[in-house]
Amino acid sequence: MTGATSRTIREAVEPLAPFLRFLQRYQQLIANPSDPNVCDFCFGNPHEMPLPEITDALIRWAKPQHQMWFAYKTSEPEAVEVVRASLVARHGIPFEAADIFLTNGAFAAITCALRAVIDPGDEVIYLSPPWFFYRTIILGFGATPVRVDIRPTRFDLPVDAIAAAVTPRTRAVIVNSPHNPSGRIYPDADLQRLGAVLEAASEHRERPIYLLSDEAYSRILFDSNAFRTPLHHYRRAMLLYTYGKTLLAPGQRIGYIALPPQMPDLEQLREAIFTAQTVTGFAWPNALMQYALGDLEQVSIDIAALQRRRDRVLADLGAMGYEAISPEGTFYVLVRSPLTDDEAFATLLAEAGVYVLPGAVFELPGWFRISLTANDGMVERSLPGFRRAIEAAAVEVAS
Ligand SMILES: Cc1ncc(COP(=O)(O)O)c(C=O)c1O
Repeated sequence: MTGATSRTIREAVEPLAPFLRFLQRYQQLIANPSDPNVCDFCFGNPHEMPLPEITDALIRWAKPQHQMWFAYKTSEPEAVEVVRASLVARHGIPFEAADIFLTNGAFAAITCALRAVIDPGDEVIYLSPPWFFYRTIILGFGATPVRVDIRPTRFDLPVDAIAAAVTPRTRAVIVNSPHNPSGRIYPDADLQRLGAVLEAASEHRERPIYLLSDEAYSRILFDSNAFRTPLHHYRRAMLLYTYGKTLLAPGQRIGYIALPPQMPDLEQLREAIFTAQTVTGFAWPNALMQYALGDLEQVSIDIAALQRRRDRVLADLGAMGYEAISPEGTFYVLVRSPLTDDEAFATLLAEAGVYVLPGAVFELPGWFRISLTANDGMVERSLPGFRRAIEAAAVEVAS
């Protein structure tokens, strides 16, 4: 029966099919998360106890100081100031408080930023392999996702292909650096070229193109790599962020949209984003997360430990014959599947108690993704399984 639900929503669910299929299998796995034989590399979820600083901050700020402590909260001035100071220090851009919109994570930041500027029938360019939900969010607004491929194995920003994909209906381009799942950080020169493309394309248009910069992993950087925001190179760029990565506490949701002072039509955008947050179902972080933000801003998982885990995974899998991409940032290592059918290879690994995310879930068949948020014990225990699976694949390919 199709009459029961919204046509737009039915269409929006279509790109999620491989993800939902995978999730069903994954939920069988997490039915027993304490099974000592399970090695879970699927998602950017924690596999160690939460950082004590997070617990301390939440306990401290849970105690009400006045009657309105848990009243409705939108973007509270104290939390906005924490974000503003952090952004100015990290990017050297003089953001204003009025242009920072606190959201429940990058998820809501992306959704509300899009909702503020796109209309049904608009085209939104996204880069593939993408974060799983871009297409669904775009389709959910009756807009059209336009896919531009990022090519293995360099995973460079495909500026020329983006330029070729722009049409009079293009309204937004989503760029994610450091990139999930390749771990690539786009260099300044490429972002500059992209900015020039979008500036030229937006000229003489009544409805300009917005660049949505998904910076979820901008503080998960390896090897002293620096992150550069595309906001330096395009006036109509919005910065979208989540604290879910540095805190590795994605269930405690807080993030933001930030607009740079050089953004044209700021007044209209402020109103549109506030309205988008309202119609998206009050898409602001809860009161407690906002109070705690001053403390949480200072907290981060141990990036050096994450980098050591990356190096270990790369070395051990490389020695077994796997081809893996060394990430410059993010939580992830992308690995070429020894079988063309990545879902079949993920099943081989699962039979050995090792769970990875097959590329079919993120538009990159022939690859799979490992999350480095697994703990060191899981890495250690997974190695015989990785070895058995690549050996079994070799036998299958040979036969
Ligand atoms: C590229 C990218 N963008 C956005 C998000 C959403 O982050 P959050 O769930 O913290 O809002 C994620 C989470 O995995 C991501 O990988």
